[in-house]
Amino acid sequence: MENFVGIITGCNSLAGIGRASAYSIAKRNPKIIYVTDINDSNLFTLAKDITKTTSVECIPKRMDASSDEDIQSVIAEAMKEYGRHDFYYANAGIGNGTALTEHTKDMFTKLMTINCWSVFAAIKYASAAMEQTSTQKPKSGGSIVATASIAGTRSGAGSISYAASKAAVINLCQTGAWRLHGKNIRVNSVCPGVIETEMTGTLLATIAQDPEKHKLIMRHNALERYGKPEEIGAMVAFLASDEASFITGQTIKVDGGATAALPYLPLFAEG
Ligand SMILES: NC(=O)c1ccc[n+]([C@@H]2O[C@H](COP(=O)([O-])OP(=O)(O)OC[C@H]3O[C@@H](n4cnc5c(N)ncnc54)[C@H](O)[C@@H]3O)[C@@H](O)[C@H]2O)c1
Repeated sequence: MENFVGIITGCNSLAGIGRASAYSIAKRNPKIIYVTDINDSNLFTLAKDITKTTSVECIPKRMDASSDEDIQSVIAEAMKEYGRHDFYYANAGIGNGTALTEHTKDMFTKLMTINCWSVFAAIKYASAAMEQTSTQKPKSGGSIVATASIAGTRSGAGSISYAASKAAVINLCQTGAWRLHGKNIRVNSVCPGVIETEMTGTLLATIAQDPEKHKLIMRHNALERYGKPEEIGAMVAFLASDEASFITGQTIKVDGGATAALPYLPLFAEG
């Protein structure tokens, strides 16, 4: 990722996928990483630590990942200062576990705006900058990665609206990859399984109190554990880099095997 300039959204959470991915991407030696989030309480210490401990310059920016103006402003700064834009990781997202009967149109619209418009806008604005050539970057090119979820692939891993929003992310990346054909701009999504982050913290702590529930959840994961944010970060860093140069329009599951099996049915003897 030498000389690469890129942006990551949703980096403020201390135990989050965005923050872990910033460290994973930094290991691949890009020139600049903009770490962004709608909340910036932890962004400055994150940027300082990456800049201090690696050869990467990391720049914190408060940015709503679903705001056209905010996205355009950070991309414009990258283009003005460094003359290129090479990777964009659209990771920011929210959950909503409200029961169907209580779920409102406003909740649904908010979820879709943050989880899906953020990815659509990333494809729209980041690709326009990635296409631009300069002395620093003679050829069009770039990599856009979005965080979807195994919830977006089938039922069983989230509420209806959350699952639908993540299904949209998967398709936005498939259709986005084709909309940008011939431009050397790749678009892929990553589907995490259950990862221990701030988003899942309270839920996983409740499950930990209930041995039967815990056993059931572990039964649906071939590795019998939850994932760690850096295990998503490793895949994101690979997809953002030139090592993944022939991978586009794909959705990559990083889920401990959860989606590789049908729900466990005790019909057959083990073996
Ligand atoms: N944790 C899991 O098990 C899991 C599984 C599948 C998918 N995901 C997805 O991974 C992504 C990261 O989630 P996480 O688990 O690290 O959660 P997290 O809550 O730890 O981090 C999410 C970050 O996104 C930020 N954010 C929220 N709305 C934003 C906005 N409008 N603009 C900018 N930033 C915003 C939050 O401030 C937070 O820092 C999300 O898209 C989530 O849906 C998580």
